[in-house]
Amino acid sequence: MTLLRDAELAAAFDHAAHSYDTLVAANPGYHAHLRRSARRLGLPASGAGLRVLDLGCGTGASTAALRSVLPAAGITAVDASPGMLARARAKAWDDRVDFVCAPAESLAEAGVRGPFDAVFAAYLFRNVADPDAVLASVHGMLAPHGRLAVHEYALSGRRAHRAVWSAVCRGVVLPVATAFGDGDLYRHLWHSVVAFDTADAFAQRVRRAGFDRVRALPLPGWQTGITHTVVARRAAAPAGSGR
Ligand SMILES: C[S@@+](CC[C@H](N)C(=O)[O-])C[C@H]1O[C@@H](n2cnc3c(N)ncnc32)[C@H](O)[C@@H]1O
Repeated sequence: MTLLRDAELAAAFDHAAHSYDTLVAANPGYHAHLRRSARRLGLPASGAGLRVLDLGCGTGASTAALRSVLPAAGITAVDASPGMLARARAKAWDDRVDFVCAPAESLAEAGVRGPFDAVFAAYLFRNVADPDAVLASVHGMLAPHGRLAVHEYALSGRRAHRAVWSAVCRGVVLPVATAFGDGDLYRHLWHSVVAFDTADAFAQRVRRAGFDRVRALPLPGWQTGITHTVVARRAAAPAGSGR
């Protein structure tokens, strides 16, 4: 199957926006796991005075997880799909949350500028055409020692976990999504996970992008071996580099 990318993917998310929250509410652990990944950023409690970027915020589930873990942080939440972002914006937020409609590939053009103390990206990287380019851009927007947490369907590499993923997609996700008229997007979900890096391979990719303290951490429940948080830190700037 050809995966959806860029404008085609944004249009598919626009269409799926109306049912997205209903579908994720039926996924056990979805919101709790996002909060766990947000805690894994390891930022000081409350997040007062910190700037956090939520890349691929969708309808705001990841933004809500960040807000619950870091109640005083400033959050910039970005998504390429106007439909998903409209759902996010319609929710109740405090005035330290900003939403921006932009692709992760052109943040500066949309006025999104660092330095950020942390970048959180939940279920984004598998969707972008060039994950190395987006990682390089994220690295450049982080303050020295800034944190990255990538929460993603990134498989363990074990055949059993890939079989569970395909069984869940074939038996549960696709029938429900097809009934909502979003079969193409959720077929993309299924195949994009199979085609994407394993958690360890993605951790290697993050290391190659110049991050240190990179770890791939598991999540529990049916997502064991399927969903991981890859955490990392932007290394300190070399002396004399001006950052
Ligand atoms: C599966 S949703 C996850 C939303 C949210 N982070 C969550 O945890 O529920 C992925 C989101 O990434 C967005 N997305 C995909 N590719 C993107 C890109 N290149 N730039 C910005 N957003 C993108 C989609 O529009 C979609 O809203």
